[in-house]
Amino acid sequence: MKIGPAPTSEGLSDLLRACHSRIRRVCTGLRALATEAGRSDPRAAATALACARYLDTALLLHARDEDESVAPRLRRLKLPESVVSALDHSAAGHAEIVAALGPARAALASPRGPNPPAEGAALLALAQLLEAHLAEEEATWLPFVDRIDPAGQAAAVAELRGRRR
Ligand SMILES: [Fe+2]
Ligand SMILES: [Fe+2]
Repeated sequence: MKIGPAPTSEGLSDLLRACHSRIRRVCTGLRALATEAGRSDPRAAATALACARYLDTALLLHARDEDESVAPRLRRLKLPESVVSALDHSAAGHAEIVAALGPARAALASPRGPNPPAEGAALLALAQLLEAHLAEEEATWLPFVDRIDPAGQAAAVAELRGRRR
């Protein structure tokens, strides 16, 4: 499974949306590995490895990007109360996602791939949690990222890149 490299030249909201696309590809991998057909696919081990690597590194960086570089700048804008609540909800969601990572990581580390039902359920649970989280962010605060002034967006992009050095 190819998750793809981080993009190099887009603006802040493009970078966030590109991360969401990669997370959705990981979710596709998690869902595949939760099924019998996916487990017996010759590419299952490679898919499990790609998913595990992403969950261990890039996913956590994306949550930090949002909590440390994006949310504080959005909170300085005059935004509707519903958007501010959505930012709070996203931050809480990141903690929920981290809690769901343990069982999913254990399932991905099984030598012959995830072993349903318990391990498959852990993978599905994480995929569902992630997909709902992304959809909510895209429907609530993400459209407001473009309202951050250009200097603030550039500083945030520099922080995102700095985390990946
Ligand atoms: Fe998030
Ligand atoms: Fe996100």
